Amino acid sequence: MRNLITLADLSSGEIERIFAISEDLKSKHAKGLREALLPGRVMALLFEKPSLRTRVSFEAGISHLGGNSLFLGEEVGWGSRESIADFARVLSAYVDVIVVRSKSHQKLIELAEHSTCSVINGLTDYAHPCQALSDLYTLRELVGSLRGQTLAYVGDGNNVARSLALGCGKLGIRFVLAAPEGYQFDAEFLASLKRDVPKLKMTVTTDPRQAVADAVAVYTDVWTSMGQESETAARRTALADYQVNAELLSHAPKGAFFMHCLPARRGEEVTDDVIDGASSVVVDQAANRLHVQKGILAWLLGAQA
Ligand code: CP
Ligand code: NVA
Repeated sequence: MRNLITLADLSSGEIERIFAISEDLKSKHAKGLREALLPGRVMALLFEKPSLRTRVSFEAGISHLGGNSLFLGEEVGWGSRESIADFARVLSAYVDVIVVRSKSHQKLIELAEHSTCSVINGLTDYAHPCQALSDLYTLRELVGSLRGQTLAYVGDGNNVARSLALGCGKLGIRFVLAAPEGYQFDAEFLASLKRDVPKLKMTVTTDPRQAVADAVAVYTDVWTSMGQESETAARRTALADYQVNAELLSHAPKGAFFMHCLPARRGEEVTDDVIDGASSVVVDQAANRLHVQKGILAWLLGAQA
């Protein structure tokens, strides 16, 4: 039984395998085929935060694969009505996989420790591995081989940025983070990167123009993530020089793509002309969540195509 808590849980070969399954299922989907690789399997979605993409792509995905989903919101009482351990033991006796969107990464780890079925991280404050897999899959579709390419992330060094850095390390992509002091990766995460992806080529800078200079794609995410709302004003000030706009993109190589996990706060981390412009692939990223979630589920539950 395997979990996907962070991308450190996957080898590069396993990521390639997930991509291959996703690609196969995507091409079948385009032909109207829904291959029932997981008949009768049940997926629980345990969500403490809002979601469009993650929730719907997982629910549609398991349905295409012949399985079922149960959406469990906060009223299910995870960690409040009973202990996390009791909750995990019972829920995992009923279902085959649990996708968790949690306010606290630690809570997800505790749930996984006591679960007897696979657990997938559908976003925590610390990591968003399914998003990063879908993004790197999308980039590979766009540019072919990923090895040796540079992905520049401009803005808050958050859950999405951490997962992208790990994914880049696994797949041989250079990762550049442009963020102000205080919004870069902390020492603990840097140490984990050294351990988990020792070959990662990473540059951290406070200069967004320098960051995008060699980038095949420029990525950003919101300045204020879910749960950080009380810091909104301070974050707007600290990150004001890190907006991805036409001026910043003029410092990137011609043809560089713009990426964002969505939802976006237009006018903050990105301008309308960039996110709606010709270089933007944000809808492709979101659409690929469906195919990559199916690849993850099929791989994790052992029904490999
Ligand atoms: N990108 C992403 O995870 O979107 P949702 O919050 O809508 O799931
Ligand atoms: N960093 C964002 C990502 C949302 C998909 C958040 O955690 O709110």
